[in-house]
Amino acid sequence: MSDTVLTTQVAIVGGGPAGLLAAHLLDRAGIASVVVDLRTRTEIETTHRAGILEANAARLLVDSGVSDRILRDGHEHEGTYLRFGGRSHRIDFKELVGESVWLYPQTDVFIDLADARARDGGDVRFGVRDVEVLDIDTQQPRVLFTDVDGTRVEVRSAFVIGADGSRSMCRNIVPEERRTRHGREYPFAWFGLLVQTPMNAPELIYAHSDAGFALVSQRTETVQRLYFQCSPTENVDDWDDARIWERLQACLAGHDGFRLHEGPVIQKSVLPFRSFVQEPMRWGRLVLAGDAAHTVPPTGARGLNLAIHDVTILADVLPRALAARDDSVLDEYAQRALQRVWRAQNFSYWMTQMLHLPPGGESFAFDRRRQLGELENVVSTRAGRTHLAEQYTGWPSGD
Ligand code: PHB
Repeated sequence: MSDTVLTTQVAIVGGGPAGLLAAHLLDRAGIASVVVDLRTRTEIETTHRAGILEANAARLLVDSGVSDRILRDGHEHEGTYLRFGGRSHRIDFKELVGESVWLYPQTDVFIDLADARARDGGDVRFGVRDVEVLDIDTQQPRVLFTDVDGTRVEVRSAFVIGADGSRSMCRNIVPEERRTRHGREYPFAWFGLLVQTPMNAPELIYAHSDAGFALVSQRTETVQRLYFQCSPTENVDDWDDARIWERLQACLAGHDGFRLHEGPVIQKSVLPFRSFVQEPMRWGRLVLAGDAAHTVPPTGARGLNLAIHDVTILADVLPRALAARDDSVLDEYAQRALQRVWRAQNFSYWMTQMLHLPPGGESFAFDRRRQLGELENVVSTRAGRTHLAEQYTGWPSGD
């Protein structure tokens, strides 16, 4: 039983960047939506995520009227560094493929989207409870939830977008016998840090070392984002600041004398990761988008970009499905989205296995030497550098 019934065209479960961008782009196409999320806006805003946007994604946020803050607060990176054997090698995206990426944290993308929805009068409900998605195989699916004031609300819509992240409830609506979950776990995780220091480098540094993988990223002039490889069961409390800096300096040490600026650690967390794809991405009148359908390890910075790509396709396909009153138009969505999903899966897996300390065992020494050979292959020929640059900056548009 519900206290209130709302009718809209598209119900969106999940108010992270994928769900909010879907609502925004659909609104621009004249299509109404209601977005619900179990988390409060503050919870989403204070969860740290990756920070690299493809230039195409940055352009979309600006050109579709979300915000132009990225142009002021973001940093355009025309390349990145691969560091191994104690030396840094620059991959010059601009020169190799004519593209760049933007360092602009996902949290800021979320804030811009949430503000844009509020500005445009969008219906977004954060902090709801007991979300249920029903009747997805009928013409009128329903999303039920309990709003913050305790009201039980029923949303009737033509379609439902499941954009509820890597622990998606929506993906479980696809019957067990009709879905395939492809995935792989990794024997390591990332120790993620926010530290109060000046910037260490003008661009990101992906480092391979005998002390393990590390990534040097940035946030502001005074706060930096750093990561190092750790065990998936690592306990952050076992790491005081001194131990953290010792490990990070060991991961970045080299013949060039490079050293990170040290300062107070202001936030630390372990980020376990895996590769995952669920197929199909559409079931009845439900479509899955972003992490709900696929997750990638963060090494290639593909996650948010893939979600944005899914949503861009949905913003093209859903209005046509609504106008034609024909669900079969939706079949196009997965066909177009999955091609990039699998390319990104491969890229993220490739970067991950190339840069991290492999598990021990008999082939450890072989794998370490082979990784160095692989990294040499990437940096020492134009073809190798171009291969990385093309994938890191996103594939040319078209799907
Ligand atoms: C980040 O800045 O948090 C970041 C950047 C690149 C990655 C992952 C995370 O590949």
